[in-house]
Amino acid sequence: MKTQKELRALIDQMTMEEKIGQLVQYNANVFTDTSQEATGPAAELGAKPEFLPVVGSSLNFQGADEMIRIQDEHLAGDRNKIPMIFMMDVIHGFRTIFPIPLGMGASFDEKLVEECTRMASKEAAAGGVQVSFTPMVDYARDARWGRVMETCGEEPLINGIMGAAQIRAFQGDDLSSPDSLGTCVKHFAAYGGAEAGRDYNTVEISERLLREYYLPAYKACLDAGATMIMPSFNSLNGVPSVANKWLMKKVLRDEWGFDGVVISDYYAIGELVLHGITDNLKDAAAMAFDCGCHMEMMSVGYQSHLKELIEEGKFTVEQLDDAVMRVLKLKNDLGLFDDPYHGASSAKEAAVCLSPEHRALAKKAAEKCAVLLKNNGVLPLDKETKRIALIGPFADEKAIKGFWACCGEDKDCVTVAEGIRALCPDAEVTVVKGCSALWDDKDTSGFAEAVKAAEAADTVILCVGEPQNYSGEGNSRADIGLPGLQTALVKEVAAANANNAMLLFTGRPLVLTDVEKSVGAILNMWFPGTEGGSAAASLLFGEANPSGKITMSFPKAVGQCPIYYNHPSTGRAKQTPEEVHQIYASNYIGCGNLPLYSFGHGLSYSNFVYEGFEIDSDTLTADGKITATVTVTNDSDRAGEEVVQLYMHDLFASAVRPIQQLIAFEKAAFAPHETKTITFEVREDMLRFYNAECEFVSEPGDFDLMVGYADHFAFTKRFKLV
Ligand code: NOJ
Repeated sequence: MKTQKELRALIDQMTMEEKIGQLVQYNANVFTDTSQEATGPAAELGAKPEFLPVVGSSLNFQGADEMIRIQDEHLAGDRNKIPMIFMMDVIHGFRTIFPIPLGMGASFDEKLVEECTRMASKEAAAGGVQVSFTPMVDYARDARWGRVMETCGEEPLINGIMGAAQIRAFQGDDLSSPDSLGTCVKHFAAYGGAEAGRDYNTVEISERLLREYYLPAYKACLDAGATMIMPSFNSLNGVPSVANKWLMKKVLRDEWGFDGVVISDYYAIGELVLHGITDNLKDAAAMAFDCGCHMEMMSVGYQSHLKELIEEGKFTVEQLDDAVMRVLKLKNDLGLFDDPYHGASSAKEAAVCLSPEHRALAKKAAEKCAVLLKNNGVLPLDKETKRIALIGPFADEKAIKGFWACCGEDKDCVTVAEGIRALCPDAEVTVVKGCSALWDDKDTSGFAEAVKAAEAADTVILCVGEPQNYSGEGNSRADIGLPGLQTALVKEVAAANANNAMLLFTGRPLVLTDVEKSVGAILNMWFPGTEGGSAAASLLFGEANPSGKITMSFPKAVGQCPIYYNHPSTGRAKQTPEEVHQIYASNYIGCGNLPLYSFGHGLSYSNFVYEGFEIDSDTLTADGKITATVTVTNDSDRAGEEVVQLYMHDLFASAVRPIQQLIAFEKAAFAPHETKTITFEVREDMLRFYNAECEFVSEPGDFDLMVGYADHFAFTKRFKLV
């Protein structure tokens, strides 16, 4: 480890080019063809060959060997001996993949998130990663946006809790430990507010909405000690984030006092020209640097223009040194000056990745993230079932790890058919694809075989969903039903055998209105990762009991998007669960305005009964608390877990309040027939919001507390804040 003084001395001995090099990040492939002239990716990027030796960081390399090769070459040529730093998107696993973040959110289990992230951190660090571009905590209400798979959905509290859990797990107590990674909160800010759910699209939101819903999760992650932050691609109220002074200077620097490293998103500084807020890269670089963006990922604004901008007096050398010091401090905290590989080696990578222990954790995670959306009693299946028909494009599909699966490979995933065959070796399992999951599939020639197999089976499992590359970056959809012919397939097969259940593979909430009435049960696996098929089997046959609850509503129709449980009261509210239209009220003709499945929904094979919701006082003072208790009984012979959810409604306030707002939850495990009293504490700070003047305060008055979720509240209690 170097002292602050030594880092300072290092900066003092660096040339201007060497300093700027520390602020530049290129893809690993740029370094692999640097021998003579810049060619291939380096040429396209505009990376000057003479500049490459001083570049201080890289992303997207292939494992420990490649990282070590690039690091060695760099150190051999660098007179200052400053190691490069290697970054990657370790979103839901490195080689062993656990469920997508939207699924991890549904677990309501921050310990599980920590456990899985720790596993990812170990694998990634062994494979050469030193900083992960995680957590992604963009608040999202529109399921058309493909990147909802990376978020925890429509509740800021959950996004913040799960983001902070990832930071604790990645960073550990000591960043220099060979199992720890630095983290980068993203995408600051409101990337998930893209108009019409189209990725990279314009974001226009009021300051109140931004502060109340979008910003809190980023702040929670910075409070948890994240080392870096990444401004988002989108324009926010007219100005792209990386050049947005209000966001970067007023909020991030002045209000939040962030003292870590800011890195642009991929080519985002170059995109300032495409956004049309300047016509040249030099200005773009100046705007971003002025906004406190210390590092530039994959565009050449800093490389080409920062020196000139300093020489022209636009920036001072002290400003440059401050940015360089932040980067060097991060390298130092990671221990790179002592071990430039941060403990990585291909031997360690091979030993730790996909180990039986990691696979077991991935299975547990996939079980805990799955959400039972519907069940008429067909699930769990009897393990003695003789003839099982697995029908649909995901019946024997290995591509179930989901988007952003880092170095995970489809070939390592367990399919549903493999999982069921392993669990029930005596069953006769028939697999029929029926059709593909592609949106433009027109070929129904597989339907007849699917129906025949359904007729001959004791039980049918319909395995349907979206291909894994229909969600994630750049993969927005305008129609979020089951793609292609799958709805027709489900209907025909379900009509042929009523003893059926549907297994869903998806990166987003889908519109299932058309299929849900046809099937006996829907078990949503999300994209479950490496052990998806084994987890699906244990859930289907009751070896595991579903306990997930969705953190993003499943709309009834795409026209309801954006739809979210915590929406503000309107002057013409009309909750119509059925398709009853009321004129001059806020509702739709022919659809109702509730989602098909709301935030907080998720069934279990156990039967949880809520009784006796009590509060110990109906008055709350600013420095006091109210204790709320509810008794929950597992009225079944099956052990299970229940997420007990506490919501509040501020009845009258100077700015319109949401009709319901999650303020606390507890996931509790119950033995068969066990009763537990769940206790929540309600304090004044949990009731604060942005008032009419956009100040964060609570206002005295009446509040309701509710236990349950959405329109399924078991009890309400009223109290007064004085
Ligand atoms: C672009 C994505 O928006 C961001 O999330 C990611 O970290 C970078 N590319 C690097 O892969």
